[in-house]
Amino acid sequence: MATIGQVIFRIMIAIIIILVAAIALIIGIGVSGQDSSSVVANDAVGEIGEDVILGCTFPAAVKDSPNILWEKVGVNGYVYKYENDAAVLSGQNAGFKGRTSLFLNQLTSGNASLRLSNLELSDAGDYKCTVTNSNGNGVGKLTLKVGGECE
Ligand SMILES: *[C@@H]1O[C@H](CO)[C@@H](O)[C@H](O)[C@H]1NC(C)=O
Repeated sequence: MATIGQVIFRIMIAIIIILVAAIALIIGIGVSGQDSSSVVANDAVGEIGEDVILGCTFPAAVKDSPNILWEKVGVNGYVYKYENDAAVLSGQNAGFKGRTSLFLNQLTSGNASLRLSNLELSDAGDYKCTVTNSNGNGVGKLTLKVGGECE
């Protein structure tokens, strides 16, 4: 037979184990919020002269505006930058001038997809979408293929 003292001791041990497990879970969730895999980009295929949407989604944070940076691997400057609720195009690579836009009404729902217009063969390649908001910072990567028209 266990004495009352032993029962209380076992209950306290059980409570401590549960608390430690809960804290470990909370820390785990906090770390995974910074995980770069939380931004997801999708490979795309387009045709010369057409428009293409480079898909990029991220976990939206309530009431804050994300900063978004689109880059192309191996290209100077960037493809598109959105910071503090405005496009910043001073460092945009000249080859993308006037051909890029975000879907601003979808930023709050976690959609940072980029529309690239009037595709050129040289647009093919690897792209990176970097999103920073109060959930943290993440990078998504995708490959764009550009084909000619079939006719
Ligand atoms: C993001 O927005 C674009 C443009 O409206 C749309 O084509 C795409 O399906 C959206 N992606 C998601 C995951 O909602």
